[in-house]
Amino acid sequence: MKEYNVAVVGATGAVGEEMILTLEQRNFPVKNLRPLASERSIGKTVKFKGEEIPVEVLDKDSFKGVDIALFSAGGSISGKFAPIAAESGAIVVDNTSYFRMEKDVPLVVPEVNPDDIAMYKNRGIVANPNCSTIQMVVALKPILDHYGIKRIVVSTYQATSGAGRKAMEELVEQTRAWFEFKFDECKPVKIPKVIAFNCVPHIDVFFDNGYTKEEMKMINETRKIFHKPDLPVTATCVRVPVFRGHSESVNVETEKPFDLDEVRRMLDEAPGCKVIDDPKNLGYPTPIEASGKDETFIGRIRRDESVENGLNLWVVSDNLRKGAALNAVQIAEILIRDYL
Ligand code: A2P
Repeated sequence: MKEYNVAVVGATGAVGEEMILTLEQRNFPVKNLRPLASERSIGKTVKFKGEEIPVEVLDKDSFKGVDIALFSAGGSISGKFAPIAAESGAIVVDNTSYFRMEKDVPLVVPEVNPDDIAMYKNRGIVANPNCSTIQMVVALKPILDHYGIKRIVVSTYQATSGAGRKAMEELVEQTRAWFEFKFDECKPVKIPKVIAFNCVPHIDVFFDNGYTKEEMKMINETRKIFHKPDLPVTATCVRVPVFRGHSESVNVETEKPFDLDEVRRMLDEAPGCKVIDDPKNLGYPTPIEASGKDETFIGRIRRDESVENGLNLWVVSDNLRKGAALNAVQIAEILIRDYL
């Protein structure tokens, strides 16, 4: 079997680390792994297949001989180095929002729009969508195909790991300070307000229309992935004191009528989805139960009785995994299977 040189940019971060683990767990045919990070990581190593591999400092020569480069070190790093990587002959799978909405860059969730990957040829870049978008479109794709979608209203409950390793540490530190009654030590750094024992409806920056960038990402990316540029979507994104796993309350109006049992069956059979919907016996997904798993879990499936053809879903997935690392590695798997 052919093997590939793979670079991971942001290898020491929450997503980068998960990317390396996912490559190993899925037995991706890696010839050489090149973990890249900043000067802060000089002397660090990452573990891959039982080996300690030294982290290298990212620079413009980092991509010589690299076939696939997975990026998750922030938008500005992708903006600068993804074109350099592509120029060197690597195919970039970029987990940041930097290229997602560019017309000639495909934005791909393998269970939803795998054929769009072919567009990687334009610029050598495939964009990995926002974590909250990914799990929502995985859950809604079967609904879209069977019944059509008229409108989506989503509210999210997003884990701190979505804001990186430092944000997870912030939750730990603030929780510790809280229990020691040292409230003045509960200082927000990565998350705009105190996150311990709190909910913060502010992810990424605010726009003039009153939405956050995270909310607009969910709206615009969903339209692009579904190839429905005018689909009515509205979102409210909230950071909650959870380490790992995003949850979403998704309300959909379908075009055609549906049968709830059929919806359950269809969702359970859909690629990447698993239905857990037996509420009387605690059968509904939660972030702790979804942590470390690949699937998008769906529960609380019920009719929205306030509108015609209204459906409510509770959608939970591991944001570091399907929301980031796994989706990127699945894209890389399709690239090597169909294009390289
Ligand atoms: P480093 O650990 O050396 O700072 P997270 O999203 O969990 O905060 O992780 C961000 C990742 O992006 C880390 O691996 C971090 O490396 C990397 N990173 C941040 N800034 C740079 C930079 N200027 N050059 C290369 N990697 C960077």
